[in-house]
Amino acid sequence: MMIGTASHPASAFVAPRDRVARINEREINVFRQRTRASNALRERALSVMPTAVPSSWMAGYYSHPQLFADHGVGASFFDADGNRYVDMNVSDLSMTVGFGVPEIEEALARQYRKGAHFLLPTEDAIAVAELLSALTGPPAWQFTVSASGANTDIMRIARHMTGRRKLLVFEGKYHGHLEETLVLAQDGVNIPEYQGLSGRRAEDTIILPFNDLDAVRRVLVEREVALALTEPAMTNCTLVMPDPGYLEGLRRLTRETGTMLCIDEAHTFSFAYGGLTREWQLESDFMTLGKGFGSGVAFAGYGMTRDVADHVERHLDILHRRSGIGLGGTLYGSALAMAVARVMLERVLTVSAHDRISTLGARMADGIDAICRDLGLPCRAFRLGPRSGLCLSPDLPRNDIQARASMDLDMLDARRVFMANRGYWDCIVSAGPQASFAHTAENIDGYVAVMAEFMHELVRGEQTSREANRTSN
Ligand SMILES: Cc1ncc(COP(=O)(O)O)c(C=O)c1O
Repeated sequence: MMIGTASHPASAFVAPRDRVARINEREINVFRQRTRASNALRERALSVMPTAVPSSWMAGYYSHPQLFADHGVGASFFDADGNRYVDMNVSDLSMTVGFGVPEIEEALARQYRKGAHFLLPTEDAIAVAELLSALTGPPAWQFTVSASGANTDIMRIARHMTGRRKLLVFEGKYHGHLEETLVLAQDGVNIPEYQGLSGRRAEDTIILPFNDLDAVRRVLVEREVALALTEPAMTNCTLVMPDPGYLEGLRRLTRETGTMLCIDEAHTFSFAYGGLTREWQLESDFMTLGKGFGSGVAFAGYGMTRDVADHVERHLDILHRRSGIGLGGTLYGSALAMAVARVMLERVLTVSAHDRISTLGARMADGIDAICRDLGLPCRAFRLGPRSGLCLSPDLPRNDIQARASMDLDMLDARRVFMANRGYWDCIVSAGPQASFAHTAENIDGYVAVMAEFMHELVRGEQTSREANRTSN
């Protein structure tokens, strides 16, 4: 998700606006020429879908004309005109294993033939919960179709268990399409983040800066907060790493004040084998999973402690007989999703696959650091396992306000279309790029090379000779 507009600390690199505008305009013209079939589809779609897309996110993320996808192979997809794009944000981390993975195709076909969903558990669900427990720690699991659904369930359980209403989240967050988390703090007042929200739920939410334990302590001692919900590293506002000891301090404070803690690993689960919870030995009451885990099939879930599992069991909602905690959904925990999750855990998300993408992430970060050095920029690479990206300041951000220096939206729009015209898809620029399980070293080097061309033109005001030759041909 992209949040707000950029503000620049004095030391950050600020791209010259005229160059940004010139590159953007030129590249959009090129894009239009390359995507005529997409444009024809867009014209047709407009009469039956608002903004020509089945879901508004597909239109709201891009400022260039709408692209229509045709098919994907490995780390790349092809548009309706046959142009190929290496996806550097892998559909906002929902396709981290890449397109057409044979093990997943086989599991999907097999389970679909056997039955996609029964509203009854299958043996795969037990296997998935057992594998997740062994891998990540939480002894009990429930499954949903989205991380938004998982966080909704978690919030309800936490409220019921603590008898409190409030929720604590951190600036720069995104935890899904829940009214309680779609809230911004503006001049000390909470406001709904989007139109169409009731606004009432905003009253239950407290938003603090990340990495500020004193602020957390001041809020939690009031003993009104049911749940503190956080990513282990903030990944939706570029990348904000936790200070040493911050997550441990947060855990200590939640324990001391009877507040429940959820670590949302919807994005970060792919950053290390078993997620950052395992890598950093984190403790919590809940852990959220989703996104790439389903490899395009709607799958998400949440882990919980034994205490929480016992509480959930004691407060089961029994249809028309007894009111319990409001959890669940029709397609939650489907046989199809469980079959995919099982094969992901048993065969795809291996230690060696994680080692490989972390090496690729470091390769991308080294390449980005080299661009900054070569151009004398006060910038550096983000680095966390497979995740990287260009940080426009010399110092890495500790919170959302500092992270905004790297969310120069006009520059990122221009970079996205520049990249697209050269075969790289830099989709949600506040949440990527990331090396996926399908990327190769060649993909990463190619991406870095195109970024170098873009930054060169932006900084020096002229194309490299290689680019000039390319665009004049
Ligand atoms: C950290 C985090 N949690 C939850 C979500 C919501 O995921 P979904 O769209 O699958 O509900 C997202 C989506 O970007 C996310 O980044």
